[in-house]
Amino acid sequence: MSLTSSIPIEKVRAGFPLLQREVYGKPLVYLDNGATTQKPQEVIDAIKEYYESYNSNVHRGVHYLSQLATDAEESSRQSIARFINAAHSHEVIFTKGTTDSINLAAYSFCKKYIQAGDEIIISHMEHHSNIVPWQIACEDRGAVLKVVPITPEGMLDMTAYEQLLSTRTKIVAITWVSNTLGTINPVREIIEKAHQQGVPVLLDAAQAVQHIPVDVQELDVDFLAFSGHKIYGPTGIGVLYGKEKFLNDMPPYQSGGSMIKSVTFDKTTYASLPFKFEAGTPHVAGIVGLGAAVRYLDALGITSVMAAEQDLLAYAQAQLGMISGLRFIGNAPEKTGAISLLLQDIHPFDLGEILDKQGIAVRTGHHCCQPIMDYYEIPGTLRASFALYNNRDDVDRLVKGIEKAKAMLS
Ligand code: ALA
Repeated sequence: MSLTSSIPIEKVRAGFPLLQREVYGKPLVYLDNGATTQKPQEVIDAIKEYYESYNSNVHRGVHYLSQLATDAEESSRQSIARFINAAHSHEVIFTKGTTDSINLAAYSFCKKYIQAGDEIIISHMEHHSNIVPWQIACEDRGAVLKVVPITPEGMLDMTAYEQLLSTRTKIVAITWVSNTLGTINPVREIIEKAHQQGVPVLLDAAQAVQHIPVDVQELDVDFLAFSGHKIYGPTGIGVLYGKEKFLNDMPPYQSGGSMIKSVTFDKTTYASLPFKFEAGTPHVAGIVGLGAAVRYLDALGITSVMAAEQDLLAYAQAQLGMISGLRFIGNAPEKTGAISLLLQDIHPFDLGEILDKQGIAVRTGHHCCQPIMDYYEIPGTLRASFALYNNRDDVDRLVKGIEKAKAMLS
């Protein structure tokens, strides 16, 4: 990918308070962005402002503060709808995060549309959160889970995918970007092939929306799930985008306050979208913070962010590639966000601990993707994952850190 970036990285870094801190007396190198990103001052200020000046419940009170909170919630929903180019803001459902979004989709979609003997397609590179909810739905409905295999490079086997699609397939649920391998999957082709058979597609975009421009209408994707905290927003808030026609037909996932139109002991009718899927008091502060986060990203320009990150990824791959004994797990030509690696026969946890003492934060382990580890027959990997504020200095410190660990552990 050859894109030109106009991101003023140093200015951007200065706007993330946590990046200014030291760890073990050393400047922090934060490369665990696949797990969670740091927050810009704009997001922190928006949450602080909510609690300091208009904390109130939403869609309930006629009073002034409740109106302000409701306006802020709905304004965030509109910002998010614009960010992913949803046709309607009521197609944006607030959830606790990607896991919650996929649980909602799996439960409600399957309750409405899946019968015994039907099939659901996922892939071998899914995060557990895009495996287990579908497994449970299959158990409940007597359906069958089909798994698209991966290749040694860490790509989806698209021939096998086409062969798995059949008249029995009722939904395809695939990750856009692998949190472990960094692979960008060919989602356009995945959706086109599924739609040719009349099958809807859910994309797990937890590792995509912070790196890649998203246009749900142009992609024609049916469902899209992502988390706030991986896109510079707060934890405990996420989004399920769904096409109106599906969301209208699907039954509620959770029930109680806010999601009803009327309740009698004989019968309850449900609220219209999006509230049908938002039972209980929402995480208003989280919604306000997530709105601030997507506005922050919008102002920088996600295309520029992508260009900067692609540049850094290429640099990191080249620099790390010079360390002898290092093995990359995931060598797809189209990647973003994450580099997984192993060094000689050193356990990734030992490597990670030595990096930590040098102020370098990475993740080690199976990254909630045990089937990927089984495929490569490895215990786990060390993963460095990037965000828009990382720079070449961070990569150089990582390379030096690994060299030092190699000298100590070999
Ligand atoms: N899913 C997150 C990760 O990949 C937690 O680290």
